[in-house]
This record gives sequence, C-alpha cells and structure tokens, in this order.
Amino acid sequence: MIENVTVKKSVMYVASECNPFVGTGGLADVAGSLPKALQKTGEYDVRVVLPLYKTTDEKLRRQFRFIGNINVPLGWRNQYCGVFSYFSEGVLYYFIDNEYYFKRDKLYGEYDDGERFAFFSKACLEIMPLIDFYPHILHCNDWQTALAPIYLKTLFYGKYKYKDIRAVFTIHNIEYQGKYGEECLGDLFGLPDYTKNMLEFDGCLNLMKGAMEVSDRVTTVSPTYAREILDAYFAHGLESVTNRNAFKLSGILNGIDEDYYNPKTDGKIFANYTKTSPAKKAENKKGLQEMLGLPVKDYAPVISMISRLVKHKGLDLVTCVIEELLHEDVQFVVLGTGDAVYESFFRYLAERYSGKMRFIAAFNKDLAAKIYAGSDIFLMPSKQEPCGLSQMIACRYGTIPVVRKTGGLADSIIPVTESNGIGYVFDNFNAHEMLFALKKAADDYKNKTLWQKYVKRAMGADFSWASSALEYEKLYDEIL
Ligand code: GLC
Repeated sequence: MIENVTVKKSVMYVASECNPFVGTGGLADVAGSLPKALQKTGEYDVRVVLPLYKTTDEKLRRQFRFIGNINVPLGWRNQYCGVFSYFSEGVLYYFIDNEYYFKRDKLYGEYDDGERFAFFSKACLEIMPLIDFYPHILHCNDWQTALAPIYLKTLFYGKYKYKDIRAVFTIHNIEYQGKYGEECLGDLFGLPDYTKNMLEFDGCLNLMKGAMEVSDRVTTVSPTYAREILDAYFAHGLESVTNRNAFKLSGILNGIDEDYYNPKTDGKIFANYTKTSPAKKAENKKGLQEMLGLPVKDYAPVISMISRLVKHKGLDLVTCVIEELLHEDVQFVVLGTGDAVYESFFRYLAERYSGKMRFIAAFNKDLAAKIYAGSDIFLMPSKQEPCGLSQMIACRYGTIPVVRKTGGLADSIIPVTESNGIGYVFDNFNAHEMLFALKKAADDYKNKTLWQKYVKRAMGADFSWASSALEYEKLYDEIL
C-alpha cells in the first residue's frame, strides 16, 4: 500500500537557556514549556537548540547522544562544533558543544559574549545538514540568538534548502539588546559590509534591532507589552524600530508549565494541596515560618517577593515604603539576588525587623517553591514587565498577587472583587499606591471566608499554554 506522505511542518526553536537543562530566568521556563505545548497539539514538529554549557544538569547530560561534529566558519575563525541530542516528552533537543565558548561558570556576562553567541547563532544554521533538519520556521529568542535570523537572511539568502525558512523573533525583554562596536561586523560576526544598515543603530551594532528588521514576524511575551514598546518610556531607545516594524509585531501571553508548578504533586513543598484542601496550604505556611525562624502565626499574612533584584522589578517602590508596612502585623520574605543597593537594603531590613522579615540572597528553586506555597500575598510591583511568570506561579499555589498594571501583569491578573478576579492591581508607578494595595490585601486576609474564596479562584485560573500555543501556530501558519 502506498501511504500518503505529507511533510510535517516544523520549527527550530533557538534559545540561550532552557529548563530543565539550564536556566537563569523566565526565558528558560518558556523555552522549557512552549515547545512541549506546541508538540502536544501535533501540528508542528518542534526541535530546540541550545548551547551545551558547563552548568547543564549533569544527570540529564549523561543521557545525551553524540550526533557528530562540524566546523563553524565565523569571519576568519573556524570553530569546532559538536552536536548532542536528547529526546523528552515529544521534543528533540540539540546541544551545541564548544568548550572554549561554553565551558564557563556563568552563562552570560563574559567579556566575549558577542563572539560566543554569534558562534551559537551561526551554528544553528550550519548544523542543519548534519542533523538533516531544515525547519519551516526558525524561532529565535532575545539578543543572544538575534544573529541567527540575520545570518539566515544574508549569508544563507537563497541557499538551497534554506531559502524557504521563515524567521520569527521573540523579545522577552527589550532592555537587553546586545550592543557592539561597529568594528565587530566583519571581524567578530563575519558579516559583509552591506549588512551594516540592518544592524546599525545609534552609533553601534544592535543585534536585537537587526533581528527585528529582518525577521518575518516579531513577537513579544504579552499583548500589552507589544503595545508598550511602541512608546519611548518602555522601548529603551528602540521606539523608532518598533514603530517601523509594528506591522509585523504582536504579543502572545506566556503560559507556565502546569505540571511542574503544581502544588498537588510538587515534591519540594512541605505538604501537597489543592484548592479543596486549604488546611494543607496552612501547613506550608507553618513550615516556612519555622524554617526561616519567623514566629509561627497564622493571622499575620506572609508577603513574599521572589525576584531578580534589579530596578525594573519596581524595587524602588519597595525601598521607599515597606517600613511603613512592617509596623503592622505582617511578615515579609524576599528571595533573590541582584544589584548591591537592593541586596544591602533588604539585609538592613532583615536586621532591623528580625521578628518579621527574612532576606535570602540566592537563586534557589527549592526554596522558591516553599515560599510560593507558604506565603499568602505575592508582591510584584514591576516598573516594566514583558510578561512575568512569578505572578502566575503564585496564583497556582494559592498566593494572591499584588501587581502593578503593566505588560504581562496587566494581561494575566484581573483585579479582585467579591465576584471576580485573582489579584490586587495598582495603576501608577507610585510607592503609596503600592502600599495602599498591599494594605488592602493584608486587611482582606483577615476575612477568612473571603480570602479562601480568592485563594480558590486564583488556584483555578488557567495559566496553561493551551491557547497561546495555538496562537503561535496560527502565526507560523500565516508566514508559510
Ligand atoms: C523576561 C521578562 C519576563 C518574562 C520572561 C519570559 O525575563 O523580563 O517578564 O516573563 O522573559 O518571557
């Protein structure tokens, strides 16, 4: 019998970090969950490519399969590129191996990041013959992979098997653009002079700008942020570029991996629970208070923040008014690392209010889970927030978010009322507006029946990828 052979549509999803292999932030969550969700709908064969870092999870790494190696030309360089693969939950992952570039303690912040990620971006295209996979869609994320669509549309332009590949570029945060001196064009990135216009912006080469110019579609991680970055307040200098490319720019709200973030099964928390077993959530609160050496009190709401401690997370509002809140009967827990000014503020606060406040300067998934499960109110007062995942995770664990109305926070958290909504939302970037929202939440917490209703509602909210994955598929379909 002759079978009807149809070529399945396919995506190469390129990211610089991806859970559960290696991650430093929200991008790893998205790269670790969107491809799985896309694979589930069955329309596209989705494969993920990422660098093989020294810090890649060791247990998983032992299961990788070596596929082969090639040389990747980059300007005058010609670099070794090994390729490993790993298959999990329907998704095939490829790892780009070069110890000179990736056997480092950190993922980013090295003096030669430009060269390291130019190599990675170029490798994604060069490995296609080796892995015998020429996708319909090349989907890249953030500045670290921005050169891949640029190479596709220049050095690989019209090349056999590459010529029909379409490029999608997703901006997770427009603040980090990848800026380099103009002298890097040929020497470091191996690009010809005629490409300079594409990348040049404000006297330097701007990789994010280049990717926006050449990609067939540009997306960002929430509809509100897609509108916001047309405005100079949010665009970090790129407003002329976002506006020129507005015709192909859209926002699709991220989801979270609801299997991973699940209080019913999470092995990291003190007691598992669902929205119908609220007493178990109380056990998590007690466990957290005991673990942190805070007084075990049910009636005092535990307010938490889990965040990178950087300016755009709205920390200036917190430093401004949080002491006022700490005069009330509340507890405050902060987990995160970042700018020294905020770290030392929280350290001071923990000393001054030692019976109420704890600061843990770490990036720790185990502790994060215990805090999501054990606190009552989750604070996220971002100045700018492309999507934000923590507010969704908090809801999933029945911890009611207090957020500022911006980007993905505005799109994911409907303000609470008696009959609707899942969080407290304040409009302006104003410390007292935040304080007012926090006080209202702490006050409502005292009304147990009302609060239980909110907790149930938040836990029942849909933050899965189901509908957003379909939106990505629709977008892919439109450009094929
Ligand atoms: C970036 C953004 C954050 C978003 C994440 C995943 O870290 O700052 O808002 O949730 O990417 O897209």
